[in-house]
Amino acid sequence: MAAFYDLAYSMFRPLLFRLDAERAHRLTLAMVRHAPRFASHHDSPELQTTAFGLTFSNPLGLAAGLDKDGLALAAWERLGFGFAEIGTITPRPQLGNGRPRIWRIPKHHALINRMGFPSDGMVQVASRLRQARAQTMGMRIAINLGPNRETPSERLAEDYAELVRQMAEFCDFIVVNLSSPNTPGLREFQAPERMRTVVERIKHACAEIGVIRPLLIKVAPDLEAVKLGEICAAATELGLAGIVATNTSLDHAALGVVSHLKGGLSGTPLKLRSREVIASIHRFTRGRIPIVGVGGIASAEDAYGHIRAGASLIELYTGLIYHGPGLVWQIRSGLLDLLTRDGFRSFSQAVGCAAA
Ligand SMILES: Cc1cc2nc3c(=O)[nH]c(=O)nc-3n(C[C@H](O)[C@H](O)[C@H](O)COP(=O)(O)O)c2cc1C
Repeated sequence: MAAFYDLAYSMFRPLLFRLDAERAHRLTLAMVRHAPRFASHHDSPELQTTAFGLTFSNPLGLAAGLDKDGLALAAWERLGFGFAEIGTITPRPQLGNGRPRIWRIPKHHALINRMGFPSDGMVQVASRLRQARAQTMGMRIAINLGPNRETPSERLAEDYAELVRQMAEFCDFIVVNLSSPNTPGLREFQAPERMRTVVERIKHACAEIGVIRPLLIKVAPDLEAVKLGEICAAATELGLAGIVATNTSLDHAALGVVSHLKGGLSGTPLKLRSREVIASIHRFTRGRIPIVGVGGIASAEDAYGHIRAGASLIELYTGLIYHGPGLVWQIRSGLLDLLTRDGFRSFSQAVGCAAA
């Protein structure tokens, strides 16, 4: 089936790449919703994995941002993902920044975006998630949460609490986005004392509605080592279930991309930076907090590199834009080959082995 998707995407890609990136994105989402299911979809037991008390049929997930409003949930499962991170979802609907706000950098297999959280808002997205969950999906669903742009910083924790009260029951785990570069001031909430306010408020909201879900934070790739160490210490102390590493980078020049465009850089130039962050988190937390590794994955070898650095789960976004949906199958089967080559009997044995 990878061959089917590779062929279909090689035909569509030239057309898509002639369109403005956001229009191409919308068209792709519409097409993906009609993706066929293949009989040989089932995952090998070696790819099954467990993180924060949940079992995943395979470790590969859709990264936040591609399906912000939960429009194509069943399709992500048909394409072979073990989980999908929906969002960033904001409490009230908002349009995000003016267009254009996504650009392709084909030379680097990269994207730059400054979307600014366009969202249908929590009420609409919750109703889509409710319907999708009713169709007994095997795929895990995460929600990625962020505040509305106009919310003042002193009310930011309350935005997250509102989101949790509305949405927690429709997901398997929750990602608190504190690292988008496109919402002014948000990254400052990665500072431990501010992170604590947000996390405690969310936990309180979960307790109020009696729905407890694993809580993860998503971090930026642009943090100094000391700051990252402080975040890891706070995550441990607060009992967070995991850390998603990483979001997009503002450090374009350091990643070898010369551009006048302002926004977060993703794709191949981000790969090694994200991997360093994953390895640092694994070291700081002594492998005790599961890491969701994301940034620049475009092949099974890339995914394996993030896993060996310490990621228990992995996610894709920009790789899908350049390589199409067949990449999901390629990575799953390629990972099996790499595990066999290196003598691992299960996926989880490989997690963090490069750090040992
Ligand atoms: C166009 C675009 C929109 C994104 N929107 C979000 C978002 O809403 N929330 C979020 O946490 N991450 C968002 N991301 C970041 C991705 O989830 C991911 O962390 C980042 O792109 C690195 O992975 P990649 O190199 O595989 O794309 C977005 C990325 C892109 C390219």
